[in-house]
Amino acid sequence: MTTIDDYIKSIPKAELHVHIEGTLEPELLFKLAARNKIRLKYNSVEELRKAYNFHNLQSFLNIYYEGAGVLQTEADFYDLTLAHLEKARSQNVLHTEIFFDPQTHTSRGIAFETVITGIKKALDDGKQKLDISSGLILCFLRHLSEEEAFKTLHEALPYKHLLLGVGLDSSEKGHPPSKFRNVFAEALKEGLLTVAHAGEEGPAEYVREAVDLLKISRIDHGNNSLNDNALLQELAEKRIPLTVCPLSNLKLKVVTDMRNHPLKKMLDAGLFVTINSDDPAYFGGYVNENFQTVAENLNLTKKDIYLLAKNSFEASFVSQTEKHAFLEKLEGFKP
Ligand code: ADE
Ligand code: ZN
Repeated sequence: MTTIDDYIKSIPKAELHVHIEGTLEPELLFKLAARNKIRLKYNSVEELRKAYNFHNLQSFLNIYYEGAGVLQTEADFYDLTLAHLEKARSQNVLHTEIFFDPQTHTSRGIAFETVITGIKKALDDGKQKLDISSGLILCFLRHLSEEEAFKTLHEALPYKHLLLGVGLDSSEKGHPPSKFRNVFAEALKEGLLTVAHAGEEGPAEYVREAVDLLKISRIDHGNNSLNDNALLQELAEKRIPLTVCPLSNLKLKVVTDMRNHPLKKMLDAGLFVTINSDDPAYFGGYVNENFQTVAENLNLTKKDIYLLAKNSFEASFVSQTEKHAFLEKLEGFKP
């Protein structure tokens, strides 16, 4: 009998909620700072890691945006992305749908083209050399205006063929999905899928807005949906996937104790949930560590793990043919 830990490590899975800027490990951050002759506030990797002590989403975002400042050239975005793909593949992630935040970079004078070209080259190499498939989702920063989001969408349209869709991230409270209804409508018209962070720190009402106004295909986080029974029922009936990120929730104090994480309640309510890492370099674990912590603290069974892995492929944006191929690989792991 394999242990649940070994089962988690070996089972094929997809990741649907990971910010490429959130995969920047301190070691690479220091390397890129040196390469780009950028002076950091921190003297060592250890000192930087010590600063990764967050009390809410905003306290994390401040450090995360600061860290992203070392990303300057196409090679930097390439190295960052390839490192993520290598790590993901080592955890038996067969497919990853990656968020990127272009406004974090264009606001510093880095060209959109530099960002997307570096990432895309790594994704191509990841497919060829590591046999990991991937997709890209452009996130608008919700603390900025809808006008700025439109500007970013227009910059992105020449690269539309490289994108699965658009998303919405950054500071949630006070920046409801409704603020971005027009830019999301244009993205949908352009044939892009939509997703949005909602119900991480914001209320269930934001999840409802994301469904009704932004026509999302997945909700990122969605924890606070549990406060609205009618919404819960609708999410379950419509089979709208939630990309849940347990270690992120703990680090950002969305939950105070992993034993109280709402994942089990979500599963019991029949929600279509998946497990993801969000910003693994900042939150102390990649996908497998996220699976492991919920398995341990919520007493999940191999059957639960299998369902979560199956959900990850079913909720992905790959073609039906690719989906079937992934699900076939998964079959052999049925407990
Ligand atoms: N950007 C990166 N990680 C995020 C998170 N967990 N919530 C909102 N925006 C983010
Ligand atoms: Zn996120």
